[in-house]
Amino acid sequence: MKKKTFLIVVLIIIFVIGIFFLIKYFNKPKTPKQNIDGDTKVLVVYFSAQNHTEKVAKEIASNLNADIFEVIPVNPYTEDDLSYTNVSSRVYKEHNDESLRNIELVSTKVDNWEDYDIVLIGYPIWWGIAAWPINNFVKENDFTNKTVIPFCTSASSGIGESGNLLEKLTNTGTWVQGKRFSSNASSNEIKKWTKSIK
Ligand SMILES: Cc1cc2nc3c(=O)[nH]c(=O)nc-3n(C[C@H](O)[C@H](O)[C@H](O)COP(=O)(O)O)c2cc1C
Repeated sequence: MKKKTFLIVVLIIIFVIGIFFLIKYFNKPKTPKQNIDGDTKVLVVYFSAQNHTEKVAKEIASNLNADIFEVIPVNPYTEDDLSYTNVSSRVYKEHNDESLRNIELVSTKVDNWEDYDIVLIGYPIWWGIAAWPINNFVKENDFTNKTVIPFCTSASSGIGESGNLLEKLTNTGTWVQGKRFSSNASSNEIKKWTKSIK
């Protein structure tokens, strides 16, 4: 009898946890549809230190027939720089001291910037936020009259507050719910998402 009660309790707990995850999954905020047609000008901007975000950015651009712009630091990150478990690495120091995160970029100026209706901004997640080399691109551009869609790649973290934090750097544009991809997201997954926002 005791055993039976225990089993019932365990089953109820599993059921409740299952319902919790189902609700969480189905309530996940989604990037709204953009009604992209032949007249909509779309730009994909990205920073990528280890090429994962670059691959995703290129596929998104190809699926949406968009132009693409890479954000490149004047002083690019080497593998040693990116060794985030090493306290003396560049990223570790930058993470610890916000004043070191003002990363000079090769360019922040996109040709015919004013023509774009939608700008997608891609970056890797570093310590739960957008990799900071993207910050100066966001700060130095005016997103007025543009819809901005953040996207990121990460090992496991969600997109979290990263898009909202970038929005605060500019306070222009209409920023919508972004999308997180795993570092090695499949072409199918990327296609499915681009189709969903088109
Ligand atoms: C400095 C640093 C910090 C990272 N922090 C996180 C993190 O907080 N959460 C996570 O899921 N992945 C983290 N990662 C993994 C990257 O987000 C992931 O590998 C990403 O796809 C790399 O993109 P990239 O190849 O375009 O640079 C981190 C990687 C680096 C180099």
